[in-house]
Amino acid sequence: MTQDQSIYLDYNATTPLAEEVIAAMRPFLEEHFGNPSSSHSYGRITNHAVEQARLAVANLLKASPDEIIFTSGGTESNNLAMRGAAHANLHKGDHIITSAIEHPAVTNVCQYLETRGYSITTLPVDSYGLVSPKDLERAITQQTVLVSIMHANNEVGTVEPVRKMAEIAHKSGALFHTDAAQSVGKIHVDVNDLGVDLLSIAGHKLYAPKGVGALYIRKGTQVDKILFGAGQEYGLRPGTENVLEIVGLGEAARLATQNLDEIIQHMQILRDQLRDGLFTAFSPDTIRLNGHPENRLPNTLSVSFKNLAANLILKNMEDKLAASAGAACHADEVRVSSVISAMGIPVEWAKGTIRLSIGRMTTSDEILRAVEIITKTVTELAACC
Ligand SMILES: Cc1ncc(COP(=O)(O)O)c(C=O)c1O
Repeated sequence: MTQDQSIYLDYNATTPLAEEVIAAMRPFLEEHFGNPSSSHSYGRITNHAVEQARLAVANLLKASPDEIIFTSGGTESNNLAMRGAAHANLHKGDHIITSAIEHPAVTNVCQYLETRGYSITTLPVDSYGLVSPKDLERAITQQTVLVSIMHANNEVGTVEPVRKMAEIAHKSGALFHTDAAQSVGKIHVDVNDLGVDLLSIAGHKLYAPKGVGALYIRKGTQVDKILFGAGQEYGLRPGTENVLEIVGLGEAARLATQNLDEIIQHMQILRDQLRDGLFTAFSPDTIRLNGHPENRLPNTLSVSFKNLAANLILKNMEDKLAASAGAACHADEVRVSSVISAMGIPVEWAKGTIRLSIGRMTTSDEILRAVEIITKTVTELAACC
């Protein structure tokens, strides 16, 4: 098996680097190596590159450059946002609210904060994976310092009502953080429209390299650092900057700012072609759609095949198509993802959940072939099991 023969429909897991990103990074791999903190010309070149990248990320989010901190990715951005905000605001309270469908990079930060004495409330979601602003209103107290609810879910693509929930948080004097690792570069993300105080980005979800990310911190938001060292990144994220990858993230942000409407349209057309192909091939008692039918990412299609095991489906077509499972079945045990189980999807459906996620490089021909491959694989499995 070579990866080239397999159709890649797993862009929510990670994306390849955009050609322009590679080209922008190359001089910083081959030539410009200066430390951005150095005052000589070597340092001035890399310092300028980092600041240009900061400007590009700020433009993408409609933020100001001094509100952007570069990190090592979505996980670190979430850690800095949540641990940093919880710590800096402990004098106001020790209550944090999150949701049942967060990525482990949020859930496990909450678990850690619980061991440090914070109390955590986890809001449920409905069958579409939506958090209810009314539930947030009921859960919030004068002790709540932080609400952390993701912008778009990585497994089913549901886009949460962040703006409404940020308003509720602010009325109570709490900060609002959103993990936007999956939404940035796929839908318009404007920090002022959303009204968030903190927003996390992961470079490798938008055609930049793995190992770089950013955190938006609204001016005036109190956040303590979680790493100690020198004064880089406004003193909030010490350590010599990862210039090469920051430049890559900057170029990826510039591309997304420039072409977002076109990218959205491309992904949505192909995602709908994939959905229509599968829902024509299978009857409603065999296939179901997961996630909100409208409020979801334009590239994500999560479907469940009744009474089939997702890992078997993926295994049986792995040399032809790459996608992700929403459940793992081993012998008598079925482990359904926490997102799918929070949505209350019955186990006979949940265990056959696969996530297909489309990217800028996906073609209509690949979608046609993907429909054929999935139809054949699922039909054969259904006949033998
Ligand atoms: C919603 C979400 N948050 C956070 C992360 C973690 O990002 P990173 O891999 O850059 O640490 C991911 C990656 O899968 C994600 O999908």
